[in-house]
Amino acid sequence: VLHVNPAVAGVVDPPVTAAKRWIEHATMTPDTPLLDLSQAVPSYPPAPELRAFLAEVVRRPDTSGYAPVAGLRHTRDAVASHFARAYGAIGQVHADDVMITTGCNQAFCLAVGALCGPGDEVVLPTPYYFNHDMWLHACRVGAVHLALSAEHSMVPDPTAVEELITARTRAIVLVTPNNPCGVTYPPEVIEAVFDIARQHGIALILDETYKDFRSTTDPPHGLFARAGWRDTLVHLYSFSKMLSLAGYRAGSLVAAPHVLDAAAKLADCETIGAPRVSQEAVAFGLSAAVEPWVEDRRRAMCERVELLDREMAAAPGGFEVVTSGAFFAYVRHPFGTEGAAAVARRLAVEHNLLTIPGDAFGRGQDRYLRLAFGNVDGNGISAAAERLASCH
Ligand SMILES: Cc1ncc(COP(=O)(O)O)c(C=O)c1O
Repeated sequence: VLHVNPAVAGVVDPPVTAAKRWIEHATMTPDTPLLDLSQAVPSYPPAPELRAFLAEVVRRPDTSGYAPVAGLRHTRDAVASHFARAYGAIGQVHADDVMITTGCNQAFCLAVGALCGPGDEVVLPTPYYFNHDMWLHACRVGAVHLALSAEHSMVPDPTAVEELITARTRAIVLVTPNNPCGVTYPPEVIEAVFDIARQHGIALILDETYKDFRSTTDPPHGLFARAGWRDTLVHLYSFSKMLSLAGYRAGSLVAAPHVLDAAAKLADCETIGAPRVSQEAVAFGLSAAVEPWVEDRRRAMCERVELLDREMAAAPGGFEVVTSGAFFAYVRHPFGTEGAAAVARRLAVEHNLLTIPGDAFGRGQDRYLRLAFGNVDGNGISAAAERLASCH
């Protein structure tokens, strides 16, 4: 039997795959079709203009070639100017600060690879995005968990973050709007954590995958407008959700050019450059032609959050929403002694309702489930609330 790296063998099984296994043998009836609230994927295709553009792109002879490791110049330009506008930081984000990655998950892996070695530590608010914790484990980087609390609406307390910093800490990770909680952190909190990271000479790795599904289009924070952002900020973004390009695998890593140089060494050994077709999709997707579509999707998702909050207001079946927003609701289940995994499994097998149990997001999360509703429409949300109500 071949030896497997114990650091990797010790990583948990991918939670979405594990949840999908529960329903492999489930019998679907027309009156209870599967409601898949397990994965944060948009239920709709990319904008029609973008799909038409891509049909042309694949015909071009150069589309099949390698792209430069850091990305196509015009895509890096487009991403830099998008962020400069979105964050009120015109002239403060340049193409040289941007690397186009094969999805935001790769951006995280490259950032950690560029910043940390085995034995280093990263502060990770918990519940965390499971792939972050999995990757840190696989790299033998210590994930130092900061427990978030429902009393503080799952928003980290910057003072508590600072207390976890040691001589080995290399970075603090924040995800806002948050996966799994849905909460958008107030700019003051993000900026206070940035200041702490700056004072300690460590990085703030900020994953804003869901920034375009907030209830506002105001800048999420003022960090890019600060002259010295490159000394501290390492920014991660995904085009999977904003442009509905999940399968194209397109994301970005924005950081000081010397950090990107280190990341590029790693990327050169794995994906080389992100696929050209995906990079063309991003450049077009950030153009004025697609802007109204993006805004419509944002509003539609905000309406889903409102609908979910209304449907869940009476705590159907005793399931209570703790926090919600963007693509997610973090829900407390009513079965005190039954673990979240058992409850989620029961919902899947008996009610054809697929959710992710809280323990996928860290210790102490056994009372919670994550519902990801990017994948279902309004009818699906109402149906999910009905199924929760009938779960005893
Ligand atoms: C917080 C967060 N970061 C990154 C990702 C992965 O994004 P991508 O599809 O661009 O790799 C996700 C997807 O669910 C996510 O929720």
